[in-house]
Amino acid sequence: MVTGAAKRIGREVALTLAREGCDVIVHYGTSVPEAQTLAAEITALGREALVLQAHLDRPADLRRLAAAAQKQFGRVDVLVNNASAFFPLELGNITPKAMQQLFAVNSVAPLLLAQAILPGMKRRRCGKIINLLDISVERPWPSYMAYCASKAALWSLTQSLALAAAPHVQVNGICPGAILWHKGLNKADIRRQTARIPAKRRGEPQDIAAAVVYLCQTDYVTGQKLVVDGGRSVAW
Ligand SMILES: NC(=O)c1ccc[n+]([C@@H]2O[C@H](COP(=O)([O-])OP(=O)(O)OC[C@H]3O[C@@H](n4cnc5c(N)ncnc54)[C@H](OP(=O)(O)O)[C@@H]3O)[C@@H](O)[C@H]2O)c1
Repeated sequence: MVTGAAKRIGREVALTLAREGCDVIVHYGTSVPEAQTLAAEITALGREALVLQAHLDRPADLRRLAAAAQKQFGRVDVLVNNASAFFPLELGNITPKAMQQLFAVNSVAPLLLAQAILPGMKRRRCGKIINLLDISVERPWPSYMAYCASKAALWSLTQSLALAAAPHVQVNGICPGAILWHKGLNKADIRRQTARIPAKRRGEPQDIAAAVVYLCQTDYVTGQKLVVDGGRSVAW
């Protein structure tokens, strides 16, 4: 199951897992046509696709999502917590509601999904949980301090879950650097950010998908974060 799979990085992860032989549960929040198109592409690859909608900031939706995923496919072997809320929140403008939104989607939802899905993985003595983090978990940006804190919380949860899931289930994080630019960045911002990346280019969603495949293939890496950033974090 890939959360937030309809577009961007999640879409590439879902397609790559299908190419690797997985049937895929495509979770989406609001992107209905994109989720349906993706499901059709997965089916065309000869795999099964199940499309499930859920607002990840609503606990009842999370319970419904975890139950439907496990019931309809019988089991979930890989959970990729990819969906994310992302917006700036500078000191002076921080409100409890905005903080709650970021933490609900970026920290609490991945934890509650893992809590619901891990028991089945442990019973079957295999499974992978992969959380999409961010290079900012080590070096937060002040203008996105709440987003960075929500991803740092998910990094801490990744390590706790790895201990709770051992010995047969592995839980890891992936820290993307600049992979796909978000709306709102102008050309000068993009030039400035690209100049700071030793690889001198942004990454591609395939770079993240390849990291997901690697973490699905190894049983001896757990509680780690794999940084995929073209060297950005060593150049800080
Ligand atoms: N893009 C980058 O360069 C970059 C850099 C560092 C880290 N990352 C991390 O990598 C992951 C993928 O990045 P991305 O840029 O592809 O993600 P994104 O486009 O910002 O978000 C992915 C999806 O999350 C879903 N989502 C957000 N809020 C939701 C909610 N309340 N309920 C249900 N779904 C919700 C949305 O689904 P719908 O469209 O269906 O509503 C959205 O399409 C994220 O965890 C991100 O933090 C990305």
